[in-house]
Amino acid sequence: MSVFNPMEQITFQRTAHTKSLMRVWLVALGIASSLVAFEAHAAAAAKPVGVSETSFQCMTKMTKVRGFYVDNLLGNKSKTLAVAKSKKGGVYPPGSVVQLVPGEVMVKGQPGSSPATKDWEFFELDVSPEGSKIRRRGYADVVNRFGGNCFACHVQAKPEWDMICEQSHGCQPIPVNHAMFTALQKSDPRCVPANPLTQEDKDALVALQEVMKNLPMPKAESPAPVASN
Ligand code: HEC
Repeated sequence: MSVFNPMEQITFQRTAHTKSLMRVWLVALGIASSLVAFEAHAAAAAKPVGVSETSFQCMTKMTKVRGFYVDNLLGNKSKTLAVAKSKKGGVYPPGSVVQLVPGEVMVKGQPGSSPATKDWEFFELDVSPEGSKIRRRGYADVVNRFGGNCFACHVQAKPEWDMICEQSHGCQPIPVNHAMFTALQKSDPRCVPANPLTQEDKDALVALQEVMKNLPMPKAESPAPVASN
């Protein structure tokens, strides 16, 4: 008959406790290390789209789709073009670069990099014959040189257009016509040799200066009201 020994009981309990604790730790460690492995794998699979000042170039060297230009920093230009040309819209692939004017760029990051902006990063550039300087970059808080919040306007595009406005995707229109955009694109100072400007282009640039004087720009806090008519 065993005599009840409280010390032994405590030791036994301790050992059992330590063992189960150890098991918990081992399981936790196992989960942690597989998580690390998984994350490493995910990181390898989805390398961030590295964007620097040298990522940008003379915009007329990119590929024109209707009124705007596209490219892909990860070499997947055919997928970018397929979405840009699709009549039903779609989701642009990571690395996509979209531009309408030399100083404003949208670059698509990896899935999950910025859910609020559908993974688009907005750039405001200073362009000159020397190249591109990034004046501002980021997500929902980037404003252009006129104080207009990129995201506040682009979020108005219907979901199937992945934040791309053009003229018919649901964004409030801006009073800049395509002759003006074409003239701005052709006069990108980074282009060597410079694109020749026609008289129409020159007239459009003069008219644009007048328009820009009175252009209202939405702020981040108050997205532009969507026209009710
Ligand atoms: C006042 C609203 C407004 C603001 C602010 C604005 N955009 Fe836009 N953006 C538009 C509209 C509308 C178009 C389509 C114009 C057209 O095709 O006639 C457009 C076009 C573009 C395009 C070509 C693809 C498309 O969506 O049609 C890019 C790229 C772009 N904008 C980037 C930017 C970036 C980057 C910023 C901020 C630095 C910015 N925009 C700020 C309204 C805005």
